[in-house]
Amino acid sequence: MKLLIINGPNLNMLGIREPGIYGASTYADLVAYLEAAAQEAGVEITCFQSNHEGAIVDAIQGAYGVMDGIVINPAAYTHTSVAILDALKAVALPAVEVHISDVKSREDFRQVSYAGMACEKTYAGMGFAGYREAIRYLKERYT
Ligand code: DQA
Repeated sequence: MKLLIINGPNLNMLGIREPGIYGASTYADLVAYLEAAAQEAGVEITCFQSNHEGAIVDAIQGAYGVMDGIVINPAAYTHTSVAILDALKAVALPAVEVHISDVKSREDFRQVSYAGMACEKTYAGMGFAGYREAIRYLKERYT
């Protein structure tokens, strides 16, 4: 099984940005964590991070016919991007949404998730462990 792991804007700043919310670990630490989680689950992953909405749309489109599923933390685009929602619906791959922080207990503007409308599940507020759960869910459900 091949999974595309997408991280959106400012997640390249993990470790620097708001460590009280997102923790002290860096994006490189996250990629290492994802690789270990993928190995444990017996899946192949490709990690992609971008600060640009269109680049994320392109990555989702590029997964069509190539990947078996998508794990996505669209970061701030979660709450604004109909384009990312439409791209997820267009490729119709099984998708799981992840948020490091507990978005439900944060500001009102974080209460809507457009991408989440095309995702089977959401793991939020679990830190990096949410990605591991998402990988395990897709592996168990689709192999
Ligand atoms: C986030 C939550 C979003 O609201 C925020 O804009 C982010 C990160 C998270 O992982 O908790 O950038 O997706």
